[in-house]
Amino acid sequence: MSETFDLILSGGHVFTPAGIQTTNIAIKDGKIAGLGDFDTSQAKRTILCAGLTILPGLIDTQVHFREPGATHKETLATGMKSAALGGITAVFEMPNTNPLTLTPDAIADKMTRAAKEPWVDYAFYLGGCKENAQHLAAYENTPGICGIKVFMGASTGDLLAASDEEIEAVLSNGKRIVAIHAEDEFIMQENKKTILGDSHDVAMHNIWRSPESCLNATKRVVAIAQKYNRRIHILHITTLEEMAFLRQHKDIATVEVLANHLTLHAPECYETLGSLAQQNPPIREKHHQDALWQAIADGTVDMVASDHAPHTLEEKGKPYPLSPSGTPGVQTLLPIMLNHVNQGKLSLERLVELMHTNPIRIHGINNRGPIATGNNADFTVVDMNKTDIISSAVQATKSEWTPFDGMQTKGWPVMTMIRGHVVMYEGELSKEPAGQPVLFNETVTPAN
Ligand code: DOR
Repeated sequence: MSETFDLILSGGHVFTPAGIQTTNIAIKDGKIAGLGDFDTSQAKRTILCAGLTILPGLIDTQVHFREPGATHKETLATGMKSAALGGITAVFEMPNTNPLTLTPDAIADKMTRAAKEPWVDYAFYLGGCKENAQHLAAYENTPGICGIKVFMGASTGDLLAASDEEIEAVLSNGKRIVAIHAEDEFIMQENKKTILGDSHDVAMHNIWRSPESCLNATKRVVAIAQKYNRRIHILHITTLEEMAFLRQHKDIATVEVLANHLTLHAPECYETLGSLAQQNPPIREKHHQDALWQAIADGTVDMVASDHAPHTLEEKGKPYPLSPSGTPGVQTLLPIMLNHVNQGKLSLERLVELMHTNPIRIHGINNRGPIATGNNADFTVVDMNKTDIISSAVQATKSEWTPFDGMQTKGWPVMTMIRGHVVMYEGELSKEPAGQPVLFNETVTPAN
């Protein structure tokens, strides 16, 4: 008898739009051929998934992979390896590389580099600033672009659009979603002189990079977005005050929070981790973290990401504030968030919304959808009962560390599948990568 299917995932708890069902998934030609009581003899291969939960392929919508320009910290290949090992099926990579990603040529260069060893699907942000603002409408639909990124406050790299005039220039050109790093450069420059001064204390990081600087930047960019009726996505919100404000502005702005900000808090994180906890915007006190969880619970937050931002331990060891900001995280994002699910901080349904459904809807992703017949066989398979210890030793990132080293968590990814290809199984990568560019509705020509 000839087999009808390439693969059957048998007996998993399958996360479908109608709820979790314990069933088999049949896969053919990279797509879901059906869900149901298929006999395993109908397929060339079967993977037993009893006791495992099969989620639609999860996406990390904010990573920094450092290629080109700082490949001693990360390459596209090592970053994507980390993603696959962490149960992530697609990544959106940031433009503060060197050179900055400001033109269609720079996007095409990243696409070519990524295609050489694509462990997961990939897309890239185009940086927006005064140098390229007038070209953005022409540039923004270059294949591979997931959106435009604006840094209102200086962070790693030279990308900056600090003034209202610069932000207006970006938001008034084009239609795609604009992701915003909202820290007010002018307030921070002043605070650096008056508050940080000559201090080398990393625990000052969240004080001079103040809640006021975040709130002011967020208010300014929301006002400009309203003026131009342009959708914005405000990245890594860290403050109670911004959440209260953004709750009233969901019509124009979507909202991201990071796993780090949901998990670590000041001042303890600086006492235990020093500059390994240094990132922008900073990790803040517990009452801010509580407000982020409240915003997860009440629907204000649309996405959770890692903001994977690797630096070497040697770089991180420089005296503050010379130590660079950012932590690796693409491989630990899902274990950390599944641990929060197991601790009752959010439901698995909400996590799938934050890392799958909302990214697809908000970015207009074309080739992804829920677990249903006809959709791509992209899955993040997790064992909700597995307990393990997060370890720097198994991080595939070139930076070779994680701020969560030694933390015991419950709920782990055990398989990453992309279009029917097993790219990670029980912590091992497959021989062949299977990633492709993520497609977006704006840039896909409808089939005739
Ligand atoms: O902490 C951060 N590091 N925040 C950013 O916005 C950039 C990132 C990086 O690229 O290192």
